[in-house]
Amino acid sequence: ADGVREYRLAIAAGQAQLSAGLAPTPTWGYRGAILGPSLRIPRGEPIRILVHNGLDQSTTTHWHGAHVPGDMDGGPQSLIAPGRTWHYHYTIDQPEATLWYHPHPNGRTGPHVYAGLAGLYLVQDGSAERLGLPRHYGIDDVPVIVQDRLLDAHDRLVYMPQVMDVMGMKGNRFLVNGRESPVLEAPAGWLRLRLLNGSNARLYNFALSGDRTFYQIATDAGFLEAPVALQRLLLAPAERAEILVDLRHLDGKRLWLRSDSAAVVPSLSTMPMDSDAYDRSVFDLLEIRVGPARAPGGRLPEHLATLANLPEIQRERHFSLQGMMGGMGGGGMAGMAALRKAAAKAPRNGPGGMSMGIGNLPLFTINHLAMDMRRIDFSTTLGSTELWEVVNRAHMAHTFHVHGVSFRIQSRDGREPPPWERGWKDVVLIRRGESVRLAMTFTQPASKAFPFMYHCHMLEHEDNGMMGQFTVV
Ligand code: C2O
Ligand code: CU
Ligand code: CU
Repeated sequence: ADGVREYRLAIAAGQAQLSAGLAPTPTWGYRGAILGPSLRIPRGEPIRILVHNGLDQSTTTHWHGAHVPGDMDGGPQSLIAPGRTWHYHYTIDQPEATLWYHPHPNGRTGPHVYAGLAGLYLVQDGSAERLGLPRHYGIDDVPVIVQDRLLDAHDRLVYMPQVMDVMGMKGNRFLVNGRESPVLEAPAGWLRLRLLNGSNARLYNFALSGDRTFYQIATDAGFLEAPVALQRLLLAPAERAEILVDLRHLDGKRLWLRSDSAAVVPSLSTMPMDSDAYDRSVFDLLEIRVGPARAPGGRLPEHLATLANLPEIQRERHFSLQGMMGGMGGGGMAGMAALRKAAAKAPRNGPGGMSMGIGNLPLFTINHLAMDMRRIDFSTTLGSTELWEVVNRAHMAHTFHVHGVSFRIQSRDGREPPPWERGWKDVVLIRRGESVRLAMTFTQPASKAFPFMYHCHMLEHEDNGMMGQFTVV
């Protein structure tokens, strides 16, 4: 009535059939049984989002990658009690990008996302039209949310059946947009895929069958300056990339989007329990069947965006990521016993009695501190630009995310980042031993009551300590 564009999400329990041969499993979704609608958010217009929580436990909804103030960010402080509705209202002012939304309750983000809560948040500023990109959503502009899940003998979702899953919950079924091995019927022409690694902990090294070349056009938070031709693209949890695939003249052909994990994933960790058989193999995610062309088709632009230089750095901060698990083998017996005890006590109030994991153990730390909601780690200045150096001192890769900003990778181990990482990002993979330097400008305020988070986006790490909080004042 007031002319403000309004969106409604209703979190509720449901039943989803993940593939044709499977019995339905209890799940959670934002508007249906699993996942949520893609929200199209116009840049520069006031909007309102109402999120109703129809679950029997509290949760939050976080706008991952969105430049919104702390009290609109949906972090751990913004708990929506069962039966209540949280009102968000803000105006987005950032470049067109494929962002996403998901729950963020402290210690329970892993199981809440795993249960089915995630959706895309598409910031739109007219760039796609101006660039002539493929524009038929769901036809030649297609979301690809990749998630792995584990099912029990009755096809029901299982979360963290083993204590060591705290290293990162991985499954053996691969869902794209909530379905196992779906088929995309795409017109002959250019196809825009919006890839989101929506998994809790697994990395995917995206490839096309036949080692077909594709063109990356966007990183997490916006377009690259120019397309980058690739045959492989590694995405860590929460990372996004938009790619264009040339399906012109392929009418009647089939191809597969897959993960060539074996080529990179095993080398990312020195702990054997951290990679499974899929991490050491190549597996298909999505079949693409090419049909007749459809007008108007899109094109591959030569130039995509002009990325502004960041203002001068005013301050540096240093972060070091540690995992306690490295020492687990040595003096770890007591630790293992404590872990088992915690796992046995874990609530089973997920969908269909799914376990809620063991969130909130101090197993992973940042600067030797585990997440504590009562502790604000530091405060920064609104409008300032900072350089964050993040060093991974753990035995495995981590994926670092910051709320309320987009950043640019200045360097990886002192070297310029590769061309496909030179755009705006909000998540960065940091290999063991590696250090990255990230530059960011804080344009959104965050108070002590609603601070911003920085954390590992491997959700079991986040839930078990690898997170901190800061204010912007
Ligand atoms: Cu995608 Cu702190 O979140
Ligand atoms: Cu986020
Ligand atoms: Cu991690």
